[in-house]
Amino acid sequence: MFKVRVPATSANMGPGFDCMGIALDIYNTVEMHVVPEGLVIENHGRDADLIAKDSTNMIYRAMERVFQQTSFVPPGLKIVSYNDIPVARGLGSSAASTAAGLLLANVLTGEELDMEKLIELGTDLEGHPDNIVPALIGGMTLSYSQDTSTVGYIKLDFPEKLRMLVMVPDFPLSTAEARMVLPRKVELGSAVFNVSRAALMVAALTAGKLEHLKYAVQDRLHQPYREKLIPGMQEVFNKAYDAGARGVFLSGAGSTLIALVDADNAGFLAKLKGFLDNTSCKWELKYANVSRQGAARIQ
Ligand code: HSE
Repeated sequence: MFKVRVPATSANMGPGFDCMGIALDIYNTVEMHVVPEGLVIENHGRDADLIAKDSTNMIYRAMERVFQQTSFVPPGLKIVSYNDIPVARGLGSSAASTAAGLLLANVLTGEELDMEKLIELGTDLEGHPDNIVPALIGGMTLSYSQDTSTVGYIKLDFPEKLRMLVMVPDFPLSTAEARMVLPRKVELGSAVFNVSRAALMVAALTAGKLEHLKYAVQDRLHQPYREKLIPGMQEVFNKAYDAGARGVFLSGAGSTLIALVDADNAGFLAKLKGFLDNTSCKWELKYANVSRQGAARIQ
């Protein structure tokens, strides 16, 4: 039996659409057992009943990619997942499944593929690198396509003194739906706005100039269009800033919102909870830290 632990991830971080992402210390654990024949999938924990138990399962689909690349033919497989990452909430559950499948299958092949190749396969499966790269390597990452298949990335330092308040609403949002509301073309002014904010995000975090984060999280490429899918999003942002957030953004394609908060801002969660308890939807609040380690074999 082989076992991996994979982190949740939050993509975009405001302006870094399809390129910035961060791994969080919320994890799924996946076991792979080699059995004589067939495919058996068991899911446990968070949203277990929403996860496929046949060959369309994302963990298995990622495994198949590795087997195709290496011409490895497995006998039967049993896959067992234990999940804490919510499904369809913008916290990278599909990237976590993909990362788990890539890593586990690669173990079976005797680690024939290197990390760069796993990132390439994962990006192809996911369609963009912003979740899969931090899911595989951990930390906060900036990733980009070098050409049609190769993905480049840099792992950035994320300040020790910042943590993230993860606000998960009670409704799911599919990435496909949240991408459909985006315009095909953007104005030059919006493009310039996002270039300046994404660059500022990297500069502010790496230089520890956290007073700029409030501006660095601003975005004109996706959040303004997705706001209509998240009732009350702007009010939550405003409340979070009132309570001292350094920055607030939509996590990935949503529906989760994340506030960057100083670790010593003791009253932050209580203030947000007091507000969110009186809104029309139910919110689950949880502090997360950056997971500096990505998907890793634990057995
Ligand atoms: N960058 C992606 C998006 C992340 O915002 O659509 C979701 O998978």
